Amino acid sequence: MLGVPLQIGPVRLGTNLLLAPIARYCDLAFRITCREASRISPGLAGASTGVGLACTDLLSPAGLLRGSQHSIDLARTHDLDRPVGMQIYGSDPAIMAEGAKWAADHGATVVDINMGCPVDKVTKTDGGSRLMCDFGKAVHIAEACRSALPSGVPLTCKMRLGWSCPDDAPALACRLTDVGVAAITVHGRTTDQRFKGRADRAKIKRVVDAVRAHTGGRSGGPIPVIGNGDVTDADSCLGMMAETGCAGVMIGRGALSHPWLFRDCWAAQVRRAAQMRGEPDPGMPAAPTSEEIIEIIRKYFHRMLEFRDTHYAMHMIRSRISWMARPLSAPGEPGVKPFKEAVRLAPGPAEVVRAFDEFIAGGLRGGLAEEHEPAET
Ligand SMILES: Cc1cc2nc3c(=O)[nH]c(=O)nc-3n(C[C@H](O)[C@H](O)[C@H](O)COP(=O)(O)O)c2cc1C
Repeated sequence: MLGVPLQIGPVRLGTNLLLAPIARYCDLAFRITCREASRISPGLAGASTGVGLACTDLLSPAGLLRGSQHSIDLARTHDLDRPVGMQIYGSDPAIMAEGAKWAADHGATVVDINMGCPVDKVTKTDGGSRLMCDFGKAVHIAEACRSALPSGVPLTCKMRLGWSCPDDAPALACRLTDVGVAAITVHGRTTDQRFKGRADRAKIKRVVDAVRAHTGGRSGGPIPVIGNGDVTDADSCLGMMAETGCAGVMIGRGALSHPWLFRDCWAAQVRRAAQMRGEPDPGMPAAPTSEEIIEIIRKYFHRMLEFRDTHYAMHMIRSRISWMARPLSAPGEPGVKPFKEAVRLAPGPAEVVRAFDEFIAGGLRGGLAEEHEPAET
């Protein structure tokens, strides 16, 4: 599977790497940022960017259907944002089906059902990972969504290992494939765990093996399982693939600070595959320079201004600069706290842009690095 693009039903992706849905982080501007920052030299196993598929935040189908501005903004996509997965959540099969159709009608390449969200607001109404406690309902919802979608738009599901038992996912995954689900993503933690501990690759492997045994004889080949959790660099991507046998890898938090990660993970797979075949080493891409990183952040900021408005762009850049600037401070080099402070305290876009320019000119350095992890609470 190394370096082999993912086939999801009728849709062939450019790679086998997916940008995870991360509510409040992976908006349209960020999805395009990852696609561009992960651009790869043409010909690297045929792909033009390491991002095979990027996914929206979880979307409320009821919100989409009644035209709520918040939901419409979250579902917004663009020609540069292809192929795109739209993720819906809920527990009412009829509303989910209508939401799935809405997503397909509004540009979704793939529609995904959220079966992994641990957040109370979602689970209290029996959606998200609560569906892992009621296989019958989960399957019913998937069946309803599948029937509502045109044949060219595959349906996928993203789940955890289980609510509290880490062995629930294999059976649910297999049952979902029986009603036409074309790929399954598994985050290697239970709902009870939230984000504690490490993603359990051995448990993800059990889902991979079960789905392969269950669907291997089908005419289109086995339904792909995508491994997810704690992939933060090319080595952890290779490790996820080697230890689970998954067909693809979904990356979330790692991309928030390294939006070019998909390029590196794809290059590492192509390289490993070449080594295994005894072919010449295609090498790895060079890490981006500080100037290139600032240009990535600058473009991201401009895209938020373009797609949304000043208020949104300022709020987001202030809250995300800590993550995005993390790779700017290498060990042994001066920190970038003054740069982050300048962005955080900027009264408007002009001052944010000035901070970018000043940093490139060699200023705004010094101080200690800061840590900040987003958590789905
Ligand atoms: C702040 C935050 C928001 C998230 N939002 C979603 C979401 O909307 N839908 C979803 O399926 N998963 C969501 N997740 C889970 C991620 O998609 C992913 O499964 C998880 O972060 C593990 O992958 P990672 O270690 O690569 O980040 C969220 C995670 C975080 C930290």
